[in-house]
Amino acid sequence: MTRTVFLGTGHYVPEKVVTNDDLAKMFDTSDEWIQQRTGIKERRYVDWDKEPLGSSDLGTRAAKAALENAGVAKDEIDCIIYATLSSDRVFPGDGVLVQAKLEVPAGVPAFDVRNQCSGFLYSLAMADAFIRVGTYRRVLVVGAEVHSSGLEFADRGREVTVIFGDGAAACVLGPSETDDGRGVLSVHLHADGRFAHELQVPYPSSAKFPRLVPEGLKDGNQYPQMNGKNVFKHAVVRMPEAVVEALTKNKLTPKDIKLFIPHQANQRITDMVQRRLDLSDDQVFSNIAHYGNTTAASIPLALDQAVKAGRIERGDLVCLASFGAGFTWGSALIRW
Ligand code: UT7
Repeated sequence: MTRTVFLGTGHYVPEKVVTNDDLAKMFDTSDEWIQQRTGIKERRYVDWDKEPLGSSDLGTRAAKAALENAGVAKDEIDCIIYATLSSDRVFPGDGVLVQAKLEVPAGVPAFDVRNQCSGFLYSLAMADAFIRVGTYRRVLVVGAEVHSSGLEFADRGREVTVIFGDGAAACVLGPSETDDGRGVLSVHLHADGRFAHELQVPYPSSAKFPRLVPEGLKDGNQYPQMNGKNVFKHAVVRMPEAVVEALTKNKLTPKDIKLFIPHQANQRITDMVQRRLDLSDDQVFSNIAHYGNTTAASIPLALDQAVKAGRIERGDLVCLASFGAGFTWGSALIRW
C-alpha cells in the first residue's frame, strides 16, 4: 500500500527577536501578562528597516531548506501547495511566487490554501491524496506567515498582537518505496463557518463598494479581530476530539503517540489538550515561548525542530492537531 512519507523538512525564521518587554514599550501590556496568559516570551519579526521580506520570501527560504534536507532537486518538484493567511499580494497567491523564486520549472502546478492555523493540515491532506493516487511524486508543502506588518501596535489590538510571530516551514512529501507501514496514516479535517466572525480580518472586503476607502480603516478592521475567549473554548474541545478521531480510526491510543505536535496557539491551550488526552510531558512538543503563534507555519516549524532535536525517529507515531480561524481544525497521524 502506497503511503505518503516525509522526505525532508526545513524552516526559516527572521533573525529579529522581539521580546514581551519590546512590545510593552509600544502599548499597554507586560511580560508577566503575556507569559501567564500565553506562555510566549518572544517571537520573530521581519526586520523592516534592514531587510523587508514578504511571506513568499520566508516560504522560499524554508522550502530551500526542506529540499536540501530531502535531497530533492527543484526540478523534481511536481506540485507546490502553499498555506498562508498573509500572502504578499491580494492575488495571485504565494504558491506561484515561490515557484518562480525557487525556479521550479514553469508548468508545475502551485496553489494556495487559506485555512489559517489549519492551513498546514489541509495542505497535508491534499498532498497525501495526490501522492496516494499517483498524481504527483514530489509535493512541496509550505506554511509561511508575515504577521508583523499586519498587527495593530496599540492598546486596541494588544490581545491579538502579542500572540503572533513571523516564520515559515516546509516539507517535501513523496510515496513510500517499501510497504513497511511508514507514512501518513490518516488526516482528519473539519470546519464550522458559523464562527467565521470570531477570528477574522474583515477589511478590505469584496462585499463593500468601493472595496477600499480611507474611512474604512478607522475602526481597525484591517487588523485581526478575535474573540479570544471563544476561540480558546472551542480549541480545547475540538483539538482533542480530532486526535481521538484519528486514533480511533487507526485503532491506536494516546499511549501509542511518541510525539504530539499541536498548533502553537497558546501554551494554556496545549496544556489543556495534553491533560484531556492524558499525555505525559515528554509526549508533547512546544516551542511557543520563542516563536509565538506563526499560524500556517506553526506545525511544520515545530515538526522540523522536533525531528532535528531527535525527538522523532523512524517508526515513531507522530500526531498533529490544529484549531483556528474559520473555525477550522483537524488532526493527522504519521508513522515516521
Ligand atoms: O491560532 C488560533 C487562534 N487563536 C487562539 O487560539 C487564541 C485563543 N485565545 C487566547 O489565547 C486567549 O483568549 C488570549 C491570550 C488571546 C487572551 O487571554 P484571556 O485569558 O482570554 O484574556 P482576556 O481576553 O479575558 O483578557 C483578560 C484581561 C482583560 O482585562 P479586564 O477586562 O479583565 O480588565 C484584557 O483587557 O486582560 C486584558 N488584556 C491584556 N492585558 C495586558 C488583554 N490583552 C492584554 C495584553 N496585555 N496583551
